[in-house]
Amino acid sequence: MYLLAKPLLMRMDPERSHDLVISGLARASRSPAGIRALRAAWGRRATSLPVKVMGIEFPNPVGLAAGLDKQGNAGAALGALGFGWVELGTVTPLPQDGNPRPRMFRLVTREAIINRMGFNSIGLDAFLANLEAMPRDVIRGINIGKNAATPVERAADDYLACLDAVHRHADYVTINISSPNTRNLRDLQEDRALDALLEAISTRADALNSKNGRKVPLVLKVAPDLDDGQVQAIANLVKRHGIDAVAATNTTISRDAVTGLPHADETGGLSGPPLRDLATRIIAALHAELGGVTPIIGIGGIDSADAALRKISAGASLVQIYTGLIYRGPGLVAEVVNGLARACRYAGHDNDTAAWLSTLHDHD
Ligand SMILES: Cc1cc2nc3c(=O)[nH]c(=O)nc-3n(C[C@H](O)[C@H](O)[C@H](O)COP(=O)(O)O)c2cc1C
Repeated sequence: MYLLAKPLLMRMDPERSHDLVISGLARASRSPAGIRALRAAWGRRATSLPVKVMGIEFPNPVGLAAGLDKQGNAGAALGALGFGWVELGTVTPLPQDGNPRPRMFRLVTREAIINRMGFNSIGLDAFLANLEAMPRDVIRGINIGKNAATPVERAADDYLACLDAVHRHADYVTINISSPNTRNLRDLQEDRALDALLEAISTRADALNSKNGRKVPLVLKVAPDLDDGQVQAIANLVKRHGIDAVAATNTTISRDAVTGLPHADETGGLSGPPLRDLATRIIAALHAELGGVTPIIGIGGIDSADAALRKISAGASLVQIYTGLIYRGPGLVAEVVNGLARACRYAGHDNDTAAWLSTLHDHD
């Protein structure tokens, strides 16, 4: 099915084909027959490989990365493709259009994407209405951000507004301070700003956890464009504020891996295979700093089981995919899950993912 549609989709403008697919998946999400059909075609192929991370029992360690379903209306269909969970958003407090089009570019020869969407978001109210309609059987992380018009010094207000609103609907919440497409957003990764932001967010999360009688873990999503000192500073703050996991990484502003290719000069974040090794190095550096205590969600250029395995070997306990899904199609999900299950079995751990991960991540 996907192989038939792919040539057509690849000839269309990237954002138009994205919108077409997402609106199809949103329609399927509202139809039990649609969900069943997707599960039969794709999801059923993925073996069960349960793993408990942040206190959440994931059916497998391969999730959908944020940004594909920014409106939160296609999560049920995306879950039916075999993902262990989906991350929805980034959502901002108020609706905003994002940057002018075109703002998504394919670097076809490298199966990569450059995007400068700029948090196009339907805003919290409409996003929450979509979440209400989503069945609870798909695990969902909710990725939150700030409006472009909010000055970066007041960013905490936006994150807190988002956290308040999504807490009851989320299995975990991701604090996205790493998009390159919202001016000054990445400044929030800087030591003092991050300390203050994490203090505000973790304090509010504690209060919401008590009020709602349910702990919703917090994940911090970081950029790949960090030096060792920055990684160390971020890891220290993550530990100090009890952040439950780090998602590494978002897209890169580096063009080293794609110099000279068509569209390589477009402004924005680069994703897909050219990001892969950079992201894996950040995961390894974070893992060294976090001492295996705080789990890592590994993201960046995963287009095969082997690429996912390298993220896990570097220190990730879960992985997420975005660009690989665009170029390889939904069959990639089961391919990656089943490849990881095989690796776990070969290592002598059958389906005991926890034992497998702890051997891989052993520090000593
Ligand atoms: C078009 C596009 C939009 C994205 N939007 C978001 C977003 O809204 N929030 C976010 O945290 N990450 C966003 N990302 C980043 C992805 O979640 C992921 O971190 C990155 O693409 C690296 O993974 P990949 O190489 O598998 O795509 C976006 C990526 C793409 C390609």
